[in-house]
Amino acid sequence: MIYTSIFDLINRHGSVRAYRPDPVPTETIETIVAAAQRTSTSSNMQAYSVVAVTDAATRTRLAELCGGQGHIAQAPVFLAWCADLARLERACELRGYAQEAGYVENFLIAAVDAVIAAQTAALAAEALGLGICYIGSIRNNTQAAIELLGLPRLTFPVTGMTLGWPAAEPPIRPRLPQSAVLHWERYGAEHDVELAEYDRAMAATGIYQGRQVPVPGKPGEVEDYGWTEHTARRVTQAVRTDLRQVLERQGFTLK
Ligand SMILES: Cc1cc2nc3c(=O)[nH]c(=O)nc-3n(C[C@H](O)[C@H](O)[C@H](O)COP(=O)(O)O)c2cc1C
Repeated sequence: MIYTSIFDLINRHGSVRAYRPDPVPTETIETIVAAAQRTSTSSNMQAYSVVAVTDAATRTRLAELCGGQGHIAQAPVFLAWCADLARLERACELRGYAQEAGYVENFLIAAVDAVIAAQTAALAAEALGLGICYIGSIRNNTQAAIELLGLPRLTFPVTGMTLGWPAAEPPIRPRLPQSAVLHWERYGAEHDVELAEYDRAMAATGIYQGRQVPVPGKPGEVEDYGWTEHTARRVTQAVRTDLRQVLERQGFTLK
């Protein structure tokens, strides 16, 4: 794939969930991480690390820990993007200080650094013709993932990411109308019409094929299952409810 501009690259993004078995050369992974390292970082603290996993047995185990997602075992590389205050702990030790890592702010600094670096890596990978898919499910069994990857105190896997050569072009999912996410000067009211429009756009992709739901208040009538239904069901579930304890064990006490 040849991209004509950065916007072309961005607009063609689709998460890749089917990969060819070909390995990604070590130098290519290093090139991608070098790009990620150019990302802005809070006070230049660079409070993140990434663990690149290529070992097949470890990837298979990660796939199990992440809810049995087959594409994780299939992709030749798994990148675990971690909030990391451990390096700063070392800097403090070297200089005779005690790090204050216990506030929500300290974790947020590291988590934000990790995810914006991850997204730069995603764009760099896509520019090289590789595909990626973020794997939030690394937090399904966070403690086991921490042990598998040998993550020390003051690190935390914020998100995973599969990386490899796409087996096929991924579908490009429509996004919400811009008026739903862009507010001028002050936060404005949501308009249901935008959500209805988006329901239709997402239903038209076929992603929710065959699913229909009753129309509220109109017995016997059904409507296409769309983004509002799908997402409302998603956010009604309490998920990954152990994270506060895991964060505390890792030294992020979130005061
Ligand atoms: C933080 C984060 C976590 C995600 N976790 C997963 C995951 O565990 N498994 C998966 O298949 N996709 C995952 N995704 C991909 C999203 O489902 C995907 O980005 C979204 O549906 C939009 O589709 P697109 O990326 O193809 O445009 C994740 C995305 C993000 C940003």
